Amino acid sequence: MRRLVGFWLLVTSYVGFAQALQVVPRPQSVEVEGEPIAVAGNLYVVATPALQGEADLIRTWWNATKTTAKAGAVSAELRIQQGVPAETYALRVSEGKIVVAGGSAAAVFYGIQTLIQAENGSKTLPAMTVRDQPAFAYRGMHLDVCRHFFDVEFVKRYLDLMAEHKMNRFHWHLTEDQGWRIEIKRYPRLTEVGAWREASQVGPYGDQRFDSTRYGGFYTQDEVREIVAYAAARHITVVPEIELPGHARAALAAYPELSCTGQEQPVATGWGVFDDVYCAGNDSVFTFLEGVLDEVLALFPGEYIHIGGDECPKTRWHDCAKCQARIKSEGLADEHALQSYFIRRIEGYLNARGRQIIGWDEILVGGLAPNATVMSWRGEAGGIAAAKSGHDAIMTPGTPCYWDHYQSKDPGEPHAIGGFNPVELVYLYNPVPAELSADEAKHILGAQANLWTEYVLTPEHAEYMILPRQLALAEVLWTGPRRSEDLAEFRIRATQRSRALKARGFNVAPHFLLPESKPFRRREPK
Ligand code: ACM
Ligand code: ZN
Repeated sequence: MRRLVGFWLLVTSYVGFAQALQVVPRPQSVEVEGEPIAVAGNLYVVATPALQGEADLIRTWWNATKTTAKAGAVSAELRIQQGVPAETYALRVSEGKIVVAGGSAAAVFYGIQTLIQAENGSKTLPAMTVRDQPAFAYRGMHLDVCRHFFDVEFVKRYLDLMAEHKMNRFHWHLTEDQGWRIEIKRYPRLTEVGAWREASQVGPYGDQRFDSTRYGGFYTQDEVREIVAYAAARHITVVPEIELPGHARAALAAYPELSCTGQEQPVATGWGVFDDVYCAGNDSVFTFLEGVLDEVLALFPGEYIHIGGDECPKTRWHDCAKCQARIKSEGLADEHALQSYFIRRIEGYLNARGRQIIGWDEILVGGLAPNATVMSWRGEAGGIAAAKSGHDAIMTPGTPCYWDHYQSKDPGEPHAIGGFNPVELVYLYNPVPAELSADEAKHILGAQANLWTEYVLTPEHAEYMILPRQLALAEVLWTGPRRSEDLAEFRIRATQRSRALKARGFNVAPHFLLPESKPFRRREPK
């Protein structure tokens, strides 16, 4: 009987939480203190110039363009606090006054996101104190714009979703076999030729069917700057990915002399992995890549450049006189060590310019570059090996972080690449493997969901693949081990949040959420 009572108290308190504050990700600490306050009338915002973006955000939400009337207005004080961790904030809502104080503008921004979600169109806010900080520093989302292209407007929408859920790293997968998507002024053929393919594979991979439609697109450097600035205003750092030495067919279509054979080949039309990669024995390949990276560095101010490194077959290198000569002259053991040479050489170039590389976990093979961060995608083994050898790692294991996988076993689901990553699995994910010591665990910077787009052709479909799974991952990464792990409680908030997103036109998959026919009714606290 005792146990049963305890259980019911627990359930009531979780449901009580969902009632009090329907916010995703769930803040670390919320104390509800009194009667709700009305979100109405004038808002008088006090903020330093460093917080002008945040001041505009809170005014827009309050619908307050005129903020001169101090008397009778609700005051909103936005403050950066010295000595507080950069992403930590405290939020206090009381009669006539809102205070958001945080360790940086990002923290204040997150505090305002909490306010906006808590209000959720109700025109009231609970009187409350929220104390909050993220469990993980790297809270990422990836988007493949190569298999299918997504325009600037959609990329901004994607960033909006990230920001609202307090995610802070956008991994922009910009180059691939099937398309090169970023303008590089020194090498114009990359987009004149490499951004366009003559056909695309359609339907399930095994069918090997193709349409005959020319397909492509790319971002001009002005558009890239626009996206980077849009992200920065939302405290999101863009991590561009320039794939090497593999997944390079689009670049090789533009500049065939960069491959081992030098043969002309079209931009790839089908999915998969291709034998033709950059030649590792040809110095002009490095001159080319350095030229590309110079322009990339000028566009992206963030610390990290993702250099790919995954799925690079060694077939051509094995048969190439130049690659074999390089293996000999550098005293390398084999083609795997040649890949390691390739990555180290690029790392050296980027480190000398103040940047760090991230690579997919294949960069561990043949020896890890000295300062590299590993993105673990073939399960967690790569991330574990990296952390154990003192390198940082970001977890993106296929299960549950590949969101090109199915989220439901419903036969009516749109065709996906395979796999099964339902919301439940995402929500229960812990990015820190149990076998790591506390010191090793510090190297796990966080996690990221990847949206590969072989089978995702439209913005609506992309939204369907990331929502509501993003709500679950945001909570894993922000709330972390202190989240309730109570799926029923999370389901209530995820449903509420999804309704708000749907009302704004986002295409949210129905799985996991409470059914629309049975709307959630708030239970009164006991
Ligand atoms: C990958 O999915 N090839 C990183
Ligand atoms: Zn070669």
